[in-house]
Amino acid sequence: MELTHRLRRLRRSESVRSLVRETTLHADDLILPLFVTEGTRQRQPIESMPGQFRFSVDELVRECCQVYALGIPAVNLFGYSAEKDDKATASYDPNGLIQRAVAAVKAEVPELCVQTDIALDPYTNHGHDGLVIDGEIVNDETTAVLCRMALSHAEAGVDWVAPSDMMDGRVGALRAALDDAGFSHVGILAYSAKYASCFYGPFRGALDSAPKKGDKKTYQMDPANAREALREIALDIEEGADVVMVKPALAYLDVIAAARQAFDVPIAAYNVSGEYGMVVAAAERGWAEREKSVMEILTSIKRAGADMILTYFAKEAVGYMR
Ligand code: PBG
Repeated sequence: MELTHRLRRLRRSESVRSLVRETTLHADDLILPLFVTEGTRQRQPIESMPGQFRFSVDELVRECCQVYALGIPAVNLFGYSAEKDDKATASYDPNGLIQRAVAAVKAEVPELCVQTDIALDPYTNHGHDGLVIDGEIVNDETTAVLCRMALSHAEAGVDWVAPSDMMDGRVGALRAALDDAGFSHVGILAYSAKYASCFYGPFRGALDSAPKKGDKKTYQMDPANAREALREIALDIEEGADVVMVKPALAYLDVIAAARQAFDVPIAAYNVSGEYGMVVAAAERGWAEREKSVMEILTSIKRAGADMILTYFAKEAVGYMR
């Protein structure tokens, strides 16, 4: 049969396929989220996230050396706080856990890009990302605390702060606070389109940070909305975000692709804890091949348009790339 177009010609061998491959994952596309806890010589397995740990600061430094040696350019730190109150006081303690962790990692691995989560949920007794006043998650009062938190991280030497709280106007407020205090070099990775997703469950187990009452739907986005994500992203760019993020990644590949079309700023995507868990659990049961699942998923997130991917699979994926 005379067929003009036979697309299978370009799939005949791995060599040919590699020549026409449009998307290749690299170690330097990845950011590893890491959990930090008090104590020394601690590497506590996280029950809800098999294969992930809460590190004491000394162990965290060791882990970060290894991460950097693997070619992964960045880590994103989350603190496990036993100290929780209604004002999230521990979040901005200059000698707090994350503040000490940042200083220790930057002292040992200065070239590694150290990022920190900015949100109050690990530090509030109610588990919300903001302050609660009369049953309301209040916006502007929360932003003021987020600024204190970010400044304490900046003092410790953080490279990027990553506000994940979804309060309105916090990117602009953070930018101004950082600039006023002489930290104009500190970047902002904004969780711009962060959805009220069920896929954060395992993470909240890791930090004991699930909301005690209610849900996060008055600040995180409705999973049904895509146009609204573009408004959120546009605002964060206007307010001074250096990088904008879509989170979660997998159920929101269309949002990543739309953001890629609409904006020229770097885009991050967060392959969240529930997405990690689905692969780990399915592989454990023999329902999916772990290596292939990890690589296919991460490649799809990059193909959709993400410049960088936060993923708990970062170290593992680098192993598969070799
Ligand atoms: C805290 C925060 C969450 C995640 C990142 N930062 C949880 C939440 O918003 O409830 C989720 C990360 C993951 O699931 O891997 N604001």
